Amino acid sequence: MVKLWAIVVMVAIALLRSTFAKQLSCTMELDRSCSLIGAKVSSDEILTTTFASSNPSTLSTVQFARSSLTGIPPAMFQTFPKLESLNATGSDIKQIQSRNFADAKTLQSLYLRGNKIHDLPDVAFFGASRLQTLDLSDNAIATIESTAFKRLRELKTLLLGSNSLTELQPGVFDDLSDLERLELQQNGLGSIDDRLFQGCHSLTALNVSHNALKTFNVAQFERRWSFDLIDASYNKLSVVRIPPNLRQLVAIGNGIRTVESTATNGSELILLKLPHNKLTSVDEVPVFDKLITLDLSFNRIREFDFRSAARFGKLVLLKLDGNQLESVSNSLTAPITHLKYVHLADNQFTHLDLNVLRTVPRILKLDLRRNQLERLAVTDLAGSFPVMVRIMLEGNRFRCPDSRPLLKELKESITAYAMTRNDCRKEENLIDGICCS
Ligand SMILES: *[C@@H]1O[C@H](CO)[C@@H](O)[C@H](O)[C@H]1NC(C)=O
Ligand SMILES: *[C@@H]1O[C@H](CO)[C@@H](O)[C@H](O)[C@H]1NC(C)=O
Ligand SMILES: *[C@@H]1O[C@H](CO)[C@@H](O)[C@H](O)[C@H]1NC(C)=O
Repeated sequence: MVKLWAIVVMVAIALLRSTFAKQLSCTMELDRSCSLIGAKVSSDEILTTTFASSNPSTLSTVQFARSSLTGIPPAMFQTFPKLESLNATGSDIKQIQSRNFADAKTLQSLYLRGNKIHDLPDVAFFGASRLQTLDLSDNAIATIESTAFKRLRELKTLLLGSNSLTELQPGVFDDLSDLERLELQQNGLGSIDDRLFQGCHSLTALNVSHNALKTFNVAQFERRWSFDLIDASYNKLSVVRIPPNLRQLVAIGNGIRTVESTATNGSELILLKLPHNKLTSVDEVPVFDKLITLDLSFNRIREFDFRSAARFGKLVLLKLDGNQLESVSNSLTAPITHLKYVHLADNQFTHLDLNVLRTVPRILKLDLRRNQLERLAVTDLAGSFPVMVRIMLEGNRFRCPDSRPLLKELKESITAYAMTRNDCRKEENLIDGICCS
């Protein structure tokens, strides 16, 4: 008898469950999208939850807001067979099961940023073969099975930043032949295998910053076409080897002492940003003939001659702020006209003669802030630097009597320089726009 009752109760519960299986409804807007606000799906409801909307067969976009879903109910993709974009950002999602997206045949964008996903199982996105954008940033992903991204041959953007990855399985990106942009920043990656990206024939932008990489073979991205940007900042690299097809390399805050080029016949590099590393000379950077921006600020450079800048025939912006320069020299015999912006702030100049820049006549902006300049000499500013529109002098220690000749030159030129009272230290006076004492 007791047994029978138990069975009756269980059957009743089962019936109730299916009769009252959770249904999430939304109203389709004119743009074929709908929002599900405040939806709640617990782990035992994932497989039974159903969806409803007016005209579900044409719905293209679903957006969750203020929702708490343990997982994405697969019924969504059966009810909305034309779904192209699903945004479940910040929705408390904890799990993705293998083939969760088996029916997501038209899905192109999947936004799962800011959830609580710990792992991506085998064939996690199997079925969603039209996917182009997959945002998994800011989760707690520590494990990605090697087939998790299987068959995502149209995927262009994969965002895995701010997770807990310490390693990546060989082959995990092998099917991503259309992938253009990959974000892996802010994980705990200790190494990246040289063959990890061998299947990613279209990759042109990669962010591996804020990991724990001791080595990273940038040269593996040598291809016949150009690779746009690699950001390897805030790792523990001491060497970078730059392939000829790379256009921009950013590697701030490593321990880089050596920069190499693997180019034998010209390089595509236009931007090289290496602040906060351990380089001791501009000449340690090999020649890149198309380089436009070279940022070596906050390294350990003690000497600089403008001849080093002339090695880069297209260089426009040179940043050497925050080094240990006490002076600069110039052994150039012919002028260079490409260099237009020179940053020398936060060095240790006490005296500087601007005539040292006479072979850089097209300079537009010169930054000398926060040195210890007491005197800045120049003869014929307007004539030597006819296009210099700005000189930045804040945070120095100019002597008032010594700055009169400089002021005269400045007033006769187009160069803006003026400081304000706020730029001066307490004991300083502001005289004709220059703080001095
Ligand atoms: C996804 O939703 C979040 C808020 O829930 C919003 O901030 C974000 O812009 C949306 N993303 C897209 C691509 O619509
Ligand atoms: C790479 O990611 C870091 C951290 O999120 C970010 O600050 C940086 O701007 C990104 N790099 C590029 C080139 O977008
Ligand atoms: C080097 O580059 C020039 C022009 O960019 C090209 O004509 C030449 O064939 C290249 N040589 C080699 C060995 O690739």
